[in-house]
Amino acid sequence: MLERRMSPVLKWAGGKTQLLEQIAARMPAEYNSYYEPFIGGAAVLFGIAPKQAFINDVNEQLVNLYTQLKNSAESVIAKVNELDAVPCTKELYYAVREQYNGKIVSRSFDAECAALMIWINKHCFNGLYRVNGKGLFNVPYNNKVKGKSIDESNIRSISEYLQNSDIVITCLDFEKACESVKAGDFVYFDSPYVPESVTASFTDYTQNGFALADHERLAALFRRLDGIGAKVMLSNNDVPLVRSLYDGFDIQSIDVKRMINRDADKRTGKEVIITNY
Ligand SMILES: C[S@@+](CC[C@H](N)C(=O)[O-])C[C@H]1O[C@@H](n2cnc3c(N)ncnc32)[C@H](O)[C@@H]1O
Repeated sequence: MLERRMSPVLKWAGGKTQLLEQIAARMPAEYNSYYEPFIGGAAVLFGIAPKQAFINDVNEQLVNLYTQLKNSAESVIAKVNELDAVPCTKELYYAVREQYNGKIVSRSFDAECAALMIWINKHCFNGLYRVNGKGLFNVPYNNKVKGKSIDESNIRSISEYLQNSDIVITCLDFEKACESVKAGDFVYFDSPYVPESVTASFTDYTQNGFALADHERLAALFRRLDGIGAKVMLSNNDVPLVRSLYDGFDIQSIDVKRMINRDADKRTGKEVIITNY
């Protein structure tokens, strides 16, 4: 059973809280270092809490958040509480968003920037993270959310975990983030998904900045890591493209609940968990 001492601080697209037990049950019993090159909301890392890990994401703001939670959790908590002390209105949301974008422009990766990210994630539409062509955060206000933006004891547990374990945090492309993987290490890949709507005859597409060519690069990396004796697990939608990219490996299909859809048939979907062991 998982301890559930820590849970994600952010609502994040593709968050794995719902699938955590199923993913954990399929992990190898033993491994050396744990690698998670697409860390996102970190539901899996926080669920299994390995003592030694390399975590990575290409999103600089997200990487700053984990770095600040490790080194300056009390400053992050104090700043979020300051923001939460004022009732949120549409005007306040857009003012805070502008302040956050100022941090992005000046590349001020600090505790305040992490706090702004947490507060905005709570008050923006659907917890989305989307930037425009200039790299500025542009998700609109969601006027339904009330209450505190953080669970302080969760933040302190995460900070304690990041400080007391050997966790290396990087902001790289996934291929670079896996350069130090060795035989006996375990890598869990949870990249942006191939859309369910992709047909077998597509020629190219890009979704959330992750293109078909990136999925091909990821599959080639999966095979390379398999070749050196690492243990590798990957999640994605259960679509023909994914099955063909990972042909020859163990592919298990699992049912997942989708966000409410008007069409009852579309409230469940199928995903795969692929392993090389
Ligand atoms: C599906 S999410 C991971 C969700 C995570 N498992 C969770 O529970 O929240 C995918 C992540 O991959 C990151 N990403 C996208 N392209 C990347 C790349 N080329 N290299 C590394 N990370 C990338 C995104 O920023 C996003 O956080």
